Amino acid sequence: MRILPNQRILSALRCPICQSRIELSEENAQGGRSLFCGGQRRHCFDISASGYVNFMAPGRTAGGDSKQAVRARTDFLNLELYRPVADALCRTVRRYIPVEDAVAVDAGCGEGYYTSLLAQSGFSCVGFDLSRFAVDAAAKRTGKAGVQVGFFGVSSVFEMPIKNDSAAAVVNVFAPCAEEEYCRVLMPGGILAVAYAGPEHLMGLKRAVYSQTRENDGRADLPKRMKCVEEVRVRFDIEVKGTENVMNLFAMTPYYWKTSVSDMEKLKSLESLTTAVDVILAIYQKEDTAADGQKKEDDGCRSH
Ligand SMILES: C[S@@+](CC[C@H](N)C(=O)[O-])C[C@H]1O[C@@H](n2cnc3c(N)ncnc32)[C@H](O)[C@@H]1O
Ligand SMILES: [Zn+2]
Repeated sequence: MRILPNQRILSALRCPICQSRIELSEENAQGGRSLFCGGQRRHCFDISASGYVNFMAPGRTAGGDSKQAVRARTDFLNLELYRPVADALCRTVRRYIPVEDAVAVDAGCGEGYYTSLLAQSGFSCVGFDLSRFAVDAAAKRTGKAGVQVGFFGVSSVFEMPIKNDSAAAVVNVFAPCAEEEYCRVLMPGGILAVAYAGPEHLMGLKRAVYSQTRENDGRADLPKRMKCVEEVRVRFDIEVKGTENVMNLFAMTPYYWKTSVSDMEKLKSLESLTTAVDVILAIYQKEDTAADGQKKEDDGCRSH
């Protein structure tokens, strides 16, 4: 099944070139559909067979995760060993945004594991990632889960084709945190959920590779101007069975690129691995000046 943006998602999108509103075309003779903008130039973006759109300007290469990295992540996440993280994310976001069908943006959505579950929990979900392999896999995953409404685009999280003040939630799971951009697209009172590695995250995996290990010490790019209203720690142990699955987990981490061949070999001899999963969900809320009955000169977030 091919996912399509619903009216809520369409009204949140804006043309990445001229910032005009976006509409969905009727089906053409081949069954294809596209998005086009309401600006003078009617910029047009074809929707792929799986249901994603490339928003990158012509000539600008995207980048992001490779096809192999996306495959490793998909195979690992399909084991459902990270499901408690996804459940905690959906539950926490739902506590703040109980409204049915509100728009949630997954910034740096990867292959859409979290986006798809958020969509199944009732959000109209939009996922952006620099990697076209990732958004293609995300659209396929979401359609396969029976979700009819959703949307994925190739775009940088630093410049998303989303109108100001239009998303009820932005989620950002192990992907670059673009505070100013997330704050711009959030509606007043909307929330930003940033998931990052807690102190003991994947300690068992690190011990299997390195002779010396230390705890993770947070994240440098956490929001500085938005207000953190809650931190939820999700910590549990997993047993990863099979060398291929262990290698897929390792390929999802930043260590993969920094590890010598000889250290990597140590993992290849493992038939199973037990490790802690330790994820912090930090929740930030965009100030609602109308609700507070006061307008501050600098609300920590600019719209442009
Ligand atoms: C570690 S993965 C996390 C993916 C997904 N959120 C998950 O947890 O399964 C980081 C993702 O961020 C994407 N990415 C990196 N820089 C980006 C940027 N500037 N804009 C959009 N996506 C980006 C990569 O392509 C990759 O898919
Ligand atoms: Zn346009």
